[in-house]
Amino acid sequence: MTLVQAEKGQKILKIALDNGIPMEHACGGNGFCTTCMCTVQEGMEHLSHRNDREENMGITSDPWRLGCQTSVVGDGDIVIEVGE
Ligand code: FES
Repeated sequence: MTLVQAEKGQKILKIALDNGIPMEHACGGNGFCTTCMCTVQEGMEHLSHRNDREENMGITSDPWRLGCQTSVVGDGDIVIEVGE
């Protein structure tokens, strides 16, 4: 497990990459591929609401989110699993 600090407004993808955590991002973080898909184990309430790009890519239910479309919006711990 890797513990990192994040600022409000940052996307999960950027937080991962800035901290040396590999996260695929084949479409460049534009919400068109799902390679950045991750699972939120805890703290979904501290993340932005699911957006249209996630919905359009079939990411419609918890715990799945697209790392490039999901931002930190609240204070508190968030546990995210990256990869398979
Ligand atoms: S990087 Fe392609 S959907 Fe997130």
